[in-house]
Amino acid sequence: MAKVLDGAAIAATIKQEVAEEVRALKAQGIRPGLAAVLVGHVPASEIYVRSKVQTCAELGLFSEMVTPDETVTTEDLLDLVRSLNDREDIDGILIQLPLPKQVDAKALLDAVLPSKDVDGFHPVNAGKLQTGRAALAPCTPAGIIEILKRSNLPISGQHAVIVGRSDIVGKPVAMLLLHENATVTICHSKTQRLGELTRQADILVAAIGRPGFITPEMVKPGATMIDVGINRITTLEEFDRYFAGDVKRELTFAKRGSTIVGDVHPKSFELAGAYTPVPGGVGPLTIAMLMANTVRAARMRRGL
Ligand SMILES: NC(=O)c1ccc[n+]([C@@H]2O[C@H](COP(=O)([O-])OP(=O)(O)OC[C@H]3O[C@@H](n4cnc5c(N)ncnc54)[C@H](OP(=O)(O)O)[C@@H]3O)[C@@H](O)[C@H]2O)c1
Repeated sequence: MAKVLDGAAIAATIKQEVAEEVRALKAQGIRPGLAAVLVGHVPASEIYVRSKVQTCAELGLFSEMVTPDETVTTEDLLDLVRSLNDREDIDGILIQLPLPKQVDAKALLDAVLPSKDVDGFHPVNAGKLQTGRAALAPCTPAGIIEILKRSNLPISGQHAVIVGRSDIVGKPVAMLLLHENATVTICHSKTQRLGELTRQADILVAAIGRPGFITPEMVKPGATMIDVGINRITTLEEFDRYFAGDVKRELTFAKRGSTIVGDVHPKSFELAGAYTPVPGGVGPLTIAMLMANTVRAARMRRGL
């Protein structure tokens, strides 16, 4: 039987640790603070940001949500970021993506002070991560490492195959796994004979954004499978493709009219040694690591 890696439980433990750290900092007169910039009204982004702000409150961090209109210009947003950079009570700045088309997202992300870049997207932090220096690492990749370590799964010497090379997930998780002494292969849409590579994986990370993309014949039996994908499915046909016979899921689907499937086909998990379910695997770690990064940024900025 494959071991289910309970991301929600691991995230809860990390959040508890963060809350303890926040209490310790409070005794020194420091309250870590996060500013979340949410532009316009993208429903998924609104849910994410609200839950980030709520988690700050639960753990004792200060937080502030800034909500510019969707017609905002790059220049106005740059001014906003500069003012947040200058504020003493703000240790972390997150700019919720996606941004409206007229906004130069790269210019904005580059304007965040690297020391406040709690998403770990700034080129300075990406460079530090690559060269193995202390850096604020992107939250989802950092969360994946926490899942592996806290579940006592071996990384050193393992062949980690990552499908996906985004700046947000694929590349940074590759770098983090390399620093943990895994042998790393990064695959993408131009990779040839993908299945031959994924079948070699002791650790398979799927960060593709395509529902059920990793099928059973692409998996080495016993592999650790980390499914980063979040894909909403709404039709019965799709439901049956991934979850036929899953009674519990059927009830959720009937109630909500949709459910989430990862980038790994659920049938593939039957071959795994251990795997992260979707939902409840990697997802919960992202917010937990954002909180951890904010506290880390608060410490680093003060040389603590
Ligand atoms: N759990 C979380 O908190 C969390 C956080 C972030 C993202 N996600 C989810 O993770 C997934 C990936 O996100 P992302 O931001 O990394 O996506 P992304 O920026 O769209 O990158 C997708 C990657 O998959 C590769 N790819 C696409 N089709 C492929 C194919 N047929 N064969 C091999 N590789 C292929 C792309 O290759 P090319 O580079 O060649 O185009 C690209 O590198 C999404 O479902 C997203 O919603 C979850």
